Amino acid sequence: MDKFIIEGGKKLKGEVIVSGAKNAALPILTGCILTGEPCLISNVPKLRDIDTVEKLLSGLGAQVEFKNSSISVKASQLASNEAPYDLVKTMRASVLLLGPLLARSGKARVSLPGGCAIGERPINLHLAGLKKLGAEIKLEEGYIEASARRLIGNKIHFDIPTVTGTMNLMMAASLAKGQSLLENCAMEPEVVEVGNFLNKMGAKIEGHGSKEIKIQGVESLGGVDFTVIPDRIEVGTLLVAAGITGSSITVKNAYLEHIEAIVQKLNEAGVKIEAAPQGLKVSRNGKLYGVDMQTQPFPGFPTDMQAQFVALMSLAEGSSVITENIFESRFMHVAELKRMGADIRIEGSSCVVKGVKSLKGAPVMATDLRASASLVLAALAAKGSTEIRRIYHLDRGYEHLEKKLNALGASVRRLKDSSKF
Ligand code: EPU
Repeated sequence: MDKFIIEGGKKLKGEVIVSGAKNAALPILTGCILTGEPCLISNVPKLRDIDTVEKLLSGLGAQVEFKNSSISVKASQLASNEAPYDLVKTMRASVLLLGPLLARSGKARVSLPGGCAIGERPINLHLAGLKKLGAEIKLEEGYIEASARRLIGNKIHFDIPTVTGTMNLMMAASLAKGQSLLENCAMEPEVVEVGNFLNKMGAKIEGHGSKEIKIQGVESLGGVDFTVIPDRIEVGTLLVAAGITGSSITVKNAYLEHIEAIVQKLNEAGVKIEAAPQGLKVSRNGKLYGVDMQTQPFPGFPTDMQAQFVALMSLAEGSSVITENIFESRFMHVAELKRMGADIRIEGSSCVVKGVKSLKGAPVMATDLRASASLVLAALAAKGSTEIRRIYHLDRGYEHLEKKLNALGASVRRLKDSSKF
C-alpha cells in the first residue's frame, strides 16, 4: 500500500493538463461489448478502475489492449457473461456490464455490488428498468442473473435520476426491438458522452443531456473510434488546489460548460476563474470566504466535488453550511480534516464549517476516492507535513495526481506504507 507525504504551504504555478474522464471511460469501455467489431477508445486515463474494467472485459473473452492512453477492444465473441464478485467488490461501476451483456448475448451474471463507504447505493432502478425491457431478473448467491431472448423497447421512468442507471438502460435499449422512452434521466456530461458514443456505433438516441431520452432500437451496432472528454472532477479538484493555496495556475483541457456550478461557488468564495486558450486560468489573491453549498444532480454542484469544497471552506473566513443530497454518508473526510485542525460539525446531511486561520499537517487516512482528494488539498495548504495513508483510493480516480501537483511546485512524495495497522 502506498502513502503520500505532503509538505504544505507551497505556492503553485504553471500549467496542468487534465486527463480523460473516468466516469465516461468506464461505461464507454463496457459499451464496447455491444459489438463484435473493433473499437478504439482514446484519452483513457490510466487508473485502477480502468485496470479493473480491462480485467472484466478480458474475462468475458474480449481482446483488450491499452497503449498510449488508448484502449482497443474487440469482442468478436463472448466466451462468458459473468462479472465475478472479486472484481465487482473493488469497483461498483462493474454493474455497467449488465445492460450491454443482456443486449448482446441475452444473458448476464453480475455480482451484486455491496455497500460502499459513501452509502448503500442500491441498483434497484437499473433492475426495474431492465425488467421493463422484458428481462427476467433473479438474485442467486449474491449474483444478479438476468436473461432475455431479445429486449423489447418500453417507457421507463426513473424515480431518482441515476447516472449509471441511465447509461445502463441507454446501452440495453439501443439493441432492443422498438422504441424506448427514458424519463427523469441523469443529465451529467458523462451520460451525454455515452449517448454520443452509442450513436457513433450506429444507435438511434435523441435527447441525451435532457431529462427525456428517446431510443429507437437497432438490429446491430458497429465498431467505433471515440475520444473521451476531460475529467470535470479533476478540473474542479485542480481549481480548488489553486484556490486553497492562494496560487495562480492554468488548467488545460477544461470545459467551462461542464463545471459551471463549481465555478459559481468558487467565485463566491473568492477564487477567480477566467477562460484561457484550451482551458481555464484560476487564481486567488484575496481572502477566501465561507459560502453555503448543496450537492445536486447535474447541472447542480456535483457530489464528487463536495469533499474538496469542504477542505476549501475549512480555511475560509466565516462559516458555511455544506449539504450532501445525493449520498447518505459522504462526510468521511470530515473527521480526518478535523485531525488537521479544521472546525467542522456534522448535522444530519449537512456539515457546518467554521473557517480556521490555518491547518496543520497530521497523519490522516483516505477513506474513499473524493475524500482522499480533499485530504490532498488540505495538505497542500497546511503548515508542515501531512502523511496520507491508503492512497489506493485516490489511484482509482486520479491519474498521476502527485506528478501533476509536483510539476506545479507542490511537494508530494509517494512512499510504500510499511505500517501493519
Ligand atoms: N439510486 C437508487 N437506486 C438506483 C440507483 C441510484 O436509489 O438504482 C440513488 C443512489 O443511492 C443515490 C442517487 O440515486 O442516492 C444517485 O446515484 P447514481 O445512480 O446517480 O450514482 P452512480 O451512478 O452509482 C455515479 C458516479 C459516482 C457519482 C454519482 C453521482 C460512476 C461510475 N459513478 O454513480 O462517482 O458520485 O454518479 O453523480 O459514474 C466518484 O467518481 O467518486 C463517484 C462516486
